[in-house]
Amino acid sequence: MSTMSDNTTANAANETAKALIERSNRLGADPRNTNYAGGNTSAKGTETDPVTGEAVDLLWVKGSGGDLGTLKESGLAVLRLDRMRALVDVYPGVEREDEMVAAFDYCLHGKGGAAPSIDTAMHGLVDAAHVDHLHPDSGIAVATAADGEELTGKIFGDKVVWVPWRRPGFQLGLDIAEIKAKNPQAIGCVLGGHGITAWGDTSEEAEQNSLWIIRTAAAYIEEHSKPEPFGPALDGYTALPEDERRAKAAALAPTIRGIASQDRPMVGHFTDSDVVLDFLSHAEHPRLAELGTSCPDHFLRTKVKPLVLDLPADASVEDSIARLKELAGSYREDYQAYYDRHATSDSPAIRGADPLIVLVPGVGMFSFGKDKQTARVAGEFYVNAINVMRGAEGLSTYAPIDESEKFRIEYWALEEAKLQRMPKPKPLATRVALVTGAASGIGRATAEKLAAEGACVVIADLDLEKAQEAAAELGSTDVAVGVQVDVSDADAVQAAVDAAVLAFGGVDLVVNNAGLSLSRSLLETTEKDWDLQHDVMAKGSFLVSKATAKVMIEQEMGGDVVYISSKNSIFAGPNNVAYGAAKADQAHQVRLLAAELGAYGIKVNGVNPDGVVQGSGIFASGWGANRAAVYGVEEKDLGKFYAQRTILKREVLPANIANAVFVLCSAELSHTTGLHIPVDAGVAAAFLR
Ligand SMILES: NC(=O)c1ccc[n+]([C@@H]2O[C@H](COP(=O)([O-])OP(=O)(O)OC[C@H]3O[C@@H](n4cnc5c(N)ncnc54)[C@H](O)[C@@H]3O)[C@@H](O)[C@H]2O)c1
Ligand SMILES: [Zn+2]
Repeated sequence: MSTMSDNTTANAANETAKALIERSNRLGADPRNTNYAGGNTSAKGTETDPVTGEAVDLLWVKGSGGDLGTLKESGLAVLRLDRMRALVDVYPGVEREDEMVAAFDYCLHGKGGAAPSIDTAMHGLVDAAHVDHLHPDSGIAVATAADGEELTGKIFGDKVVWVPWRRPGFQLGLDIAEIKAKNPQAIGCVLGGHGITAWGDTSEEAEQNSLWIIRTAAAYIEEHSKPEPFGPALDGYTALPEDERRAKAAALAPTIRGIASQDRPMVGHFTDSDVVLDFLSHAEHPRLAELGTSCPDHFLRTKVKPLVLDLPADASVEDSIARLKELAGSYREDYQAYYDRHATSDSPAIRGADPLIVLVPGVGMFSFGKDKQTARVAGEFYVNAINVMRGAEGLSTYAPIDESEKFRIEYWALEEAKLQRMPKPKPLATRVALVTGAASGIGRATAEKLAAEGACVVIADLDLEKAQEAAAELGSTDVAVGVQVDVSDADAVQAAVDAAVLAFGGVDLVVNNAGLSLSRSLLETTEKDWDLQHDVMAKGSFLVSKATAKVMIEQEMGGDVVYISSKNSIFAGPNNVAYGAAKADQAHQVRLLAAELGAYGIKVNGVNPDGVVQGSGIFASGWGANRAAVYGVEEKDLGKFYAQRTILKREVLPANIANAVFVLCSAELSHTTGLHIPVDAGVAAAFLR
């Protein structure tokens, strides 16, 4: 027993693995060195085999997926070097090289750690203790230059060797191992169309060699690039001023998300970074965009090429939308034709023909993915690709790998298998929710539930700080963002909807929850009280429904609107005229809008809560004390008191309301609209009939 646990500790503390993780984290922290989750690193070293007690040679290599910048020990695959290298003797040749990936499983040491990636062969076969394979923009610029081989000699002398493009795999590993053997002076190589690989006898040496290649390439480009790699400035394509381009982006976003979601719903990301705007404002951008990305990592996330709007920056929103729709049609035809040109009988089925990157001159870039992180990273990769094109065009002519090779990567059986292994998406994956009044109580619980079920959530509340705090508690800005809104103000509502659309590409799921409650008798209710109740709840939900319905109609992706109405929209009691009437107004909006928006596939439903004391700002700010006094109980016992009034004798919690909202928006209730669900633990006087 004790020997086993000693060994486990020894494992975690293995100096070679530790140094590898530190080096990987340093390299991955600087985006100039490699793209997010791109590239991999390895180290060879020894450890005591717990079975024999003898020393055993091992290879630690970054596993499939995962990012160098945040690599941990659990992200490393651990292989027995002797067994991994013995695969050379059974290697059946390049046509069947994919079979070697499954064979890696038979080379694992212990439980093996993370799944070995396709690049494992390169790391294992190269005769150097430490190897880095990276995708730096500067290195790929050389790798995708039409005369990349010649440039490699010019820039690096004989220290770096050119390797012609070959799809990653066992053969590429053999090729690089041979190059290293034949060029003992070399510290690494440029992989045509793809990236770089560097090596060293020590971890420090490998890292220095990697950085030397990356920085030498960058410095060479800096010094030798022609002044305008993207051609002269294009008249009318200069970036719009920030406010204007954000407004135009928000106005176009729903249409663009709809275009990107014809085959399957997508989450969007928008960026108007200088790199994108500069690219789009120069003459060569249509030609270069058409050539597409080159590094396999890039185009797996960006698709072979983007959709580019061919209108100047000041084109009207209307004209832009009309043209984008035309271009979407031809993009899909082109993509289908690309698939048909290259697919063979054993190719995986086409995965959808919509663009993942949409470029709008003067405005910026929209990128798409199955969740916000994927959408954001796709955008980052296209920025990488723009940097690559700038470098390559600055020195030479940008010449990405052939279309047929792109297809072989995109529809690679191994890639398909990876996709098939992905966990099933959560029920609300790809859906963007906007919840008003979500910094507190029921709204907050609803935001939490929708996020837990996979939605991206926009928390909109009067109080920006509280909204942002509530969002941060749900996760990063890939999960939730907080925005300020006064729902009774049309401009503020539009600004919040614009912010939502720029954060996640659009909106699909709207929860009209913002509210407040004044308990006053008719004679005590002032005009101001009446107006406030109606402005926030009746008018507020009307304004939010209106602004978001426009987005949903433009997206053509259906949608859900849920009103948090109240038992009091049905039930009549004293001291409630302003609140109850406003709630009844909201309840009828549900039916009216269900009737009107059904034509667009938008469902409109409501929830009627009652007696939700816990977490409720409404109860905490006077209403609770008032109700408690009316019923003659202590305020802290109000929840229990309400429970005793119910048929089920249960206290209603914010989470119960949140669950009802989720159910109304889930696929299970896809055929239900115009419904109110009471969540009140049973109040006969508020039964719906
Ligand atoms: N708590 C209950 O028992 C109960 C019962 C029936 C219905 N409701 C309804 O549920 C909703 C939420 O109630 P809660 O109990 O969670 O209240 P709460 O006070 O905890 O939360 C309401 C949130 O709405 C926000 N808000 C208020 N005015 C706003 C405005 N003009 N613009 C944007 N945000 C605004 C507040 O800042 C607050 O964060 C309300 O519509 C309420 O009427 C509650
Ligand atoms: Zn690579």
